[in-house]
Amino acid sequence: MSSSSNVPVPPPQPSLQPNALSANSVASSTSSLPSSVFTLPQTAQLEALYTIIRNKHTSRGDFLFYSDRIIRLLVEEGLNHLPVVKKSVVTPTGSTYDGVGFEGKICGVSILRAGEAMEAGLREVCRSVRIGKILIQRDEETMQPKLFYSKFPQDIAKRYVLLLDPMLATGGSAMKAVDVLMENGVSEDRIIFINLISSPEGLKTFCERFPQLKVITGWIDQGLNEKAYIIPGLGDFGERRYCE
Ligand code: URA
Repeated sequence: MSSSSNVPVPPPQPSLQPNALSANSVASSTSSLPSSVFTLPQTAQLEALYTIIRNKHTSRGDFLFYSDRIIRLLVEEGLNHLPVVKKSVVTPTGSTYDGVGFEGKICGVSILRAGEAMEAGLREVCRSVRIGKILIQRDEETMQPKLFYSKFPQDIAKRYVLLLDPMLATGGSAMKAVDVLMENGVSEDRIIFINLISSPEGLKTFCERFPQLKVITGWIDQGLNEKAYIIPGLGDFGERRYCE
């Protein structure tokens, strides 16, 4: 089909270098992040994935597909922070290869319900990984986050825990979840909190409270609105993921 002469042609957009740091990334513009916070490399590819999932017109199918891609990257980055020990193996050529192996056992713990969306990404990377769950909601009387349900592997105190929740907004649920993990014997420095988007204020509160705990985040946004939604954010992650 030939283009009609009355259809306006959009002006050409300037192209960005594939690895250009984006003005949208707080992580790329500040060096004042706590040393316990690690962001994914702020590449143009990553920003393109975030642009898709932030778009309110993105279909649920695309939201699932592209958020899963980011989750996979986050889980891989989380695993980079687990300790390793020296390990030698013999290759099929009969030579010895002096490498490394993971030191301890891990498990995932998802904060319901949105955190459940990250379980598949963890399972893709860590076959037959044990996964616990925790449900925290605001207590209507005290307005504080309250534990409603938890189920963990019985030896969780001996494991490294990948704590999964896609959005770090005020940090209230995540901090309560860490309290519960620590009450179950997990030490702070064995917990790695993985999320897709953080607010700067939530990140600050969380890291001040748990300085030994590592946070892996895909993107740090501008802040919170009066309803505690992350801005620009992507709306309600659970709604986008589970509801048409
Ligand atoms: N949880 C969400 O799903 N979105 C936000 O913006 C904040 C918390």
